[in-house]
Amino acid sequence: MSIYPPEPFRIKVTEPIRLISPELREIALEAAGYNLFAIKSEDIYIDLLTDSGTGAMSQEQWAGIMRGDESYAGAKSFQRLEIAVKDIFGFEYFVPTHQGRAAENILCACLVKPGDCIPSNMHFDTTDANIRARGGRPSNLVIDEAFDPTNQHPFKGNIDITKLKEFIDRIGVAKIPFGMVTVTNNAGGGQPVSMENIKAIARIYHENKIPFFIDAARYAENCFFIKKREPGYAQKSVKEIATELFALADGMTMSAKKDAIVNIGGLLCMNDGGLFENVKNELILREGFPTYGGLAGRDLDAMAVGLFEGLDEDYLSYRLGQTSYLACRINEAGFNTIQPAGGHAVYIDASAALPHIPQSEFPGQALSVELYREGAIRGVEIGSVMFSYLDAETGVTIYPKLELLRLALPRRTYTQSHLDYVGEALIRIKKRAASIRGYKFTYAPQSLRHFSAKFEPI
Ligand code: F0G
Repeated sequence: MSIYPPEPFRIKVTEPIRLISPELREIALEAAGYNLFAIKSEDIYIDLLTDSGTGAMSQEQWAGIMRGDESYAGAKSFQRLEIAVKDIFGFEYFVPTHQGRAAENILCACLVKPGDCIPSNMHFDTTDANIRARGGRPSNLVIDEAFDPTNQHPFKGNIDITKLKEFIDRIGVAKIPFGMVTVTNNAGGGQPVSMENIKAIARIYHENKIPFFIDAARYAENCFFIKKREPGYAQKSVKEIATELFALADGMTMSAKKDAIVNIGGLLCMNDGGLFENVKNELILREGFPTYGGLAGRDLDAMAVGLFEGLDEDYLSYRLGQTSYLACRINEAGFNTIQPAGGHAVYIDASAALPHIPQSEFPGQALSVELYREGAIRGVEIGSVMFSYLDAETGVTIYPKLELLRLALPRRTYTQSHLDYVGEALIRIKKRAASIRGYKFTYAPQSLRHFSAKFEPI
């Protein structure tokens, strides 16, 4: 098999995309205030904004859509989802939710009190925001290697176990209602967490009687990395690895829009019956009856099928091969990316690409605009636009450690020639990199700035 395994599927339904002219792209950029979130999808040629809910469903998932049972309570669709969830994750109780952040909201509503602290490797921004919305404090305890883009550590999503122990001693168990780990670590480059590390995390949480929840958005990709990189797992199936992984935890939140390959959906699972009662009350208040969550019956069926398809090893080796193929093309174009390539996305080091643009002038944003300008390709800035803030006490702006442009790959959607096109656009950008200018805000709201900020070139 080639190091980049071809698609283990052929294409039966197509969706046209069109490349608008450079002049129209310039008009679109100006109208959007140089924020790619404000560009119409019809003006984008290759959309790598996110891998969330943007993948292609299979024929079996579309067949599931037709089988959907729209009964309010006790639908067959729910029963089919229940079989998949019990089989793969093994938790006692679960509810469907409309997406991952709804599961996080319900969990936080039930468990987080003002002043509580929730440790993880790195919380995704919706988890971070849901903890804060309940008065809690999210804490990121990932290993230091995660912040060195060139470091080749095979499990850069790991939690630093010494930091975790110190954190629990310092904060005190009474203020830690649950602990987490995100697999793979999206906020840190889509990097996996090793089984050894998850075992150590579980042991420490459990020694301290802290319930352990996994953010399982990209668990199948994480389990495939364990199979490929961790001694002792090569002979195990990805599903067996998943069973071992979830047996270590007390529950999980999941955005099914990633590794369950659906356009909408989420899960909240747990073993604690008391918590489940509270979860159901919150769910009914915000999402819907416990056998449908915030979804239609057909969505539950698509998820039931997609959960198994996401574990298919031919699919996973093609998928992770695609990500490393894109990383290779980008490196050949002369850009540094977070090493090794992550599961769902390639993260370009924008500070290294545009060293003449200081963090205060948003190098990640500048590179994202340039990629749209060059090829109508959309990525997302993960840098100072998303994360810098004004420290209220000192009046100083605090900048993140990394300025990145994330190119996320929707599942089963783009082919190798689409990825070559991205590489070619970056080769042309590299030639004129020194003339690319930074940006300044013309509008910057207090919260969720990256979605709606407007800019102008400096
Ligand atoms: N957890 C992780 C690790 C995620 O990456 C996401 C979403 C969520 C939770 C929230 O799930 O969107 O279904 O509510 N990540 C998307 C992204 C948005 O582009 O990385 P959701």
